[in-house]
Amino acid sequence: MMFRKILLFLVLVTTASIGAAMAKNTYIIHMDKTKIAAKLFHEVDSMQTYQAVIDSINEMSLQKVDGDQQQETMPAELLYAYETAISGFSAKLSTKQLQKLEKVDGFLSATPDQMLQLHTTNSQQFLGLQNGKGLLSASNLASASDVIIGIVDTGIWPEHASFQDKGMPAVPSRWKGVCEEGTKFSKSNCNKKLIGARYFFKGYEVEYGRINETKEFLSARDQNGHDILAGIDKAVQDGVDVLSMSLGLGPLPFHSDTLAIGSFGAIKSGVFVSTSAGNSGPFSSTLTNSAPWIMSVAASYTDRTFPAVIKLGNGKIVEGISLNSGNALTKPVPVYYPLSRFCLDGSLNETEIKGKIVVCRTSNVSAYIQSENVKKAKGVGMILVNFISDGDELYVQPHILPTARVGYTAGKYVTHYASTAKKPTASIIFKGTVYGRTAPVIARFSSRGPSSIEPDVIKPDVTAPGVNILAAWPPIVGPSERQGDTRSVMFNILSGTSMSCPHVSGLAALLKSVHRDWSPAAIRSALMTTAYTLNNKKSPISDVDSSNSVGPFAYGSGHVDPERAVDPGLIYDIAAEDYLKYLCNLNYTSAEIALFTRGNFTCPKITAFGARDLNYPSFAVNFRGGVQNGSLEYKRTVTNVGIPTSSYAVQVEVPNGVSVIVKPKILSFNKLGQKLSYKVTIVGKSKTSSHSSFGSLTWVSGKFRVRSPIAVTWQ
Ligand SMILES: *[C@@H]1O[C@H](CO)[C@@H](O)[C@H](O)[C@H]1NC(C)=O
Ligand SMILES: *[C@@H]1O[C@H](CO)[C@@H](O)[C@H](O)[C@H]1NC(C)=O
Ligand SMILES: *[C@@H]1O[C@H](CO)[C@@H](O)[C@H](O)[C@H]1NC(C)=O
Ligand SMILES: *[C@@H]1O[C@H](CO)[C@@H](O)[C@H](O)[C@H]1NC(C)=O
Ligand SMILES: *[C@@H]1O[C@H](CO)[C@@H](O)[C@H](O)[C@H]1NC(C)=O
Ligand SMILES: *[C@@H]1O[C@H](CO)[C@@H](O)[C@H](O)[C@H]1NC(C)=O
Repeated sequence: MMFRKILLFLVLVTTASIGAAMAKNTYIIHMDKTKIAAKLFHEVDSMQTYQAVIDSINEMSLQKVDGDQQQETMPAELLYAYETAISGFSAKLSTKQLQKLEKVDGFLSATPDQMLQLHTTNSQQFLGLQNGKGLLSASNLASASDVIIGIVDTGIWPEHASFQDKGMPAVPSRWKGVCEEGTKFSKSNCNKKLIGARYFFKGYEVEYGRINETKEFLSARDQNGHDILAGIDKAVQDGVDVLSMSLGLGPLPFHSDTLAIGSFGAIKSGVFVSTSAGNSGPFSSTLTNSAPWIMSVAASYTDRTFPAVIKLGNGKIVEGISLNSGNALTKPVPVYYPLSRFCLDGSLNETEIKGKIVVCRTSNVSAYIQSENVKKAKGVGMILVNFISDGDELYVQPHILPTARVGYTAGKYVTHYASTAKKPTASIIFKGTVYGRTAPVIARFSSRGPSSIEPDVIKPDVTAPGVNILAAWPPIVGPSERQGDTRSVMFNILSGTSMSCPHVSGLAALLKSVHRDWSPAAIRSALMTTAYTLNNKKSPISDVDSSNSVGPFAYGSGHVDPERAVDPGLIYDIAAEDYLKYLCNLNYTSAEIALFTRGNFTCPKITAFGARDLNYPSFAVNFRGGVQNGSLEYKRTVTNVGIPTSSYAVQVEVPNGVSVIVKPKILSFNKLGQKLSYKVTIVGKSKTSSHSSFGSLTWVSGKFRVRSPIAVTWQ
């Protein structure tokens, strides 16, 4: 679904994206350029055209109207013109100025723009971040804007409003990067927010000859991998603090996984690396990016949804999801369920479909193409019912006609009714955006642990918003990414662990801004030990398909909670040398080890040091070879970053089938930075009926709850 493009653009962005005050009166205005009055229109310069539009409403504002009590004090302000993408601009406007603007010739629509300085909407609220408070307080943001995030990805649209740098302070002086020129990319494309960009394609061509695009996009991951390495290295040299890598190379041994190799170098230099868990769920051990030095992020739903209420002719009501907000289908129309089920090319008969809502099953063909087929056959709407393999997953997708997507379970009513009723009908009410659904809920597609590469560390580490996320979108690519979809949008709604990973990158940057001295492991520890495992209805976080079990292999330590993570009480730190000791114990050849150490490290003779010996803030307990009565020991060291004199007591939620012994049971600190160790012994007693059982170990002191999941697996 996601990890297909690896050609690289390395993009470096400072963090104020998540920050900067959210201006309530900023709007994105869509205009029909052909209708703009000639006296305002400037042939070549859209900025001048829109400035003239704004000037005209400012002039109107100054004219005092009878009975108008409130004289406008601040002129409307043009912020940004969209020249290539949508036709239009963004502006800061009062409600009254907006009303005036609505009367200007060529005006199409205005949408309040919370997106202008934010990468997405709703996530902030869902993550418990409040503008002006805590991590987003003015003082904190001032320092957060000094944190540099490197994004290793496939490309960027620098003109996008999301990269507008208005209000950003100067680029941090320690920044050593450049804004590399390339095809349709010039130095002027960088600014105070998008502070640099590097393009690694060219270097690749010099070394390996001209890129054969047919090939490159099809496979050749390894070759592309060298680019990845170059990108990560350069980013580290350039001075990034956080690397965001929504990429994955499939479960591979670390020495064959360029992301693992590259990120190791980054971690050694103190750079936090956030990666996506992958989109191959809900099956076990599908997770990519399982190296113990990186953060692996699962994806979950937030409390926002876009309900589409389907009323069948027999009175039954079925809820689906849709981005459509029109009212084209509020009156019942005939429903048709074609024999071909999947609404593939050429399978729909116009005589049968014209004027009807067509029921189609999700398939390997894009949902957009299905909707195109329905439209071609003159259908008026589509009910897209999940095929059994899609379960009850409900993420929205772009369509070409009003479409409601329904999960497998609810969809059974629709297909049964549509195929058995004499004259089936349905109406659909599109409810727009609704908040408050049960959340978080783990996405079906989110890849699951345990890691097939290193099962002795629980992966993923955490979950974060990754379903139905509003994200910046390149205007030259239609929202469906299909040829022929000529629509141009600035934002699109996307789902994937590629969406959840950048959320964690942003949070890591915010934490880094408060705790400059925290290592990558300390930041990860803070995010993990403060993560929560109950949803907003106070029940354990579940999977979108209730049939799938959830727990640490779906969400690691739980859902990130940044305002708690900034003050975690204790952290589990890990030094880069420990990761090296760990690598030495993987019995890699010296050539393989050299990939990580860059030839400057000799493995110590014999010191057994496995993943269990890493000071990881979670416990993966594997009883191998049918051992029932064995025991496994873990030593951990916590650093006090909370209150100088504080005493922590341990609380254990014991997994089924084991007993847990913690020594000591109390940790008493008398200064900040103090490190204390404890030992956990897990004794296997009886194999449970299931393959795994879960529990937790939590150090509690006042408001601090430093929680680590325990996942026991019998193999
Ligand atoms: C590119 O790769 C494809 C698929 O392997 C091959 O058919 C084609 O000839 C290659 N083109 C060039 C210019 O090498
Ligand atoms: C389309 O459906 C009509 C009515 O059921 C039928 O008469 C016609 O043969 C069908 N056309 C094709 C190409 O199957
Ligand atoms: C999708 O493709 C896979 C692999 O080719 C196949 O097994 C599966 O049945 C297909 N699913 C649908 C709904 O066509
Ligand atoms: C590495 O080799 C040693 C000695 O053969 C063995 O005891 C150990 O289990 C191996 N480690 C791994 C991770 O395979
Ligand atoms: C090699 O290790 C030494 C000592 O730890 C260090 O000073 C040096 O910078 C390292 N060289 C490279 C190329 O990493
Ligand atoms: C585990 O220990 C218990 C009690 O000592 C014993 O009854 C049981 O048979 C043992 N199980 C195995 C598989 O050895």
